[in-house]
Amino acid sequence: MQPFIAPSILSANFACLGEEVNNVLEAGADIIHFDVMDNHFVPNLTIGPLVCESLRAYGVNAPIDVHLMTEPVDSLIKDFANAGATYITFHPEASKHPHRSLALIKELGCQSGLVLSPGTPLSYLEHLIDELDMVLIMSVNPGFGGQSFIESSIQKIKSLRALIDNTKSDIRLEVDGGVKIDNISKIAKAGADTFVAGSAIFGSDDYFKTITAMRSQIELGLK
Ligand code: DX5
Ligand code: ZN
Repeated sequence: MQPFIAPSILSANFACLGEEVNNVLEAGADIIHFDVMDNHFVPNLTIGPLVCESLRAYGVNAPIDVHLMTEPVDSLIKDFANAGATYITFHPEASKHPHRSLALIKELGCQSGLVLSPGTPLSYLEHLIDELDMVLIMSVNPGFGGQSFIESSIQKIKSLRALIDNTKSDIRLEVDGGVKIDNISKIAKAGADTFVAGSAIFGSDDYFKTITAMRSQIELGLK
């Protein structure tokens, strides 16, 4: 699977978001990671479907990867599908019926995914894996950008890689939290193919340089 670099707009300058998104795309980003926090499932409040719709209206054509950190999820799934989301992922603990929520995402024409927080076991995937286009492993606790990568995530990524390889289907393995130029190679080596980075990209002076360095580190990890 072609590696994807997914800048998280949580660390972008919201006063000029459209421009920031175009800049990371011109700098080589593959997809845009869109963090939705409700001050209930996680202790922070961010952006909703209107902002996704505005990015589409501004001319952003790249895939938008909506990471729901909200509870519940179903009404927002509908709103984000209408707002132009490409991927919609949610935390299984946040839906009373995760199987139904995943089916809803697919019915609405989007790609579906589950997100596992550091304390959430892979066993949540057991009866749901066939419904998934993506699994997102969180390598920090959800809620904030700029936290440090939790090292035990590497083992979890390796185990998930083995599980996905067993299904023989094209499920993306995304990693989110504390991803930097200096650890992205080992994350790729462990089996990730989609790399979310917020502060490492938007906090850098040169988005092109950072994304290019990340891409070559990913290649190194895959050698
Ligand atoms: C955290 C979010 C992440 C966050 C990552 O809850 O899901 O997407 O933006 O930020 P960094 O890359 O700074 O850890
Ligand atoms: Zn995220």
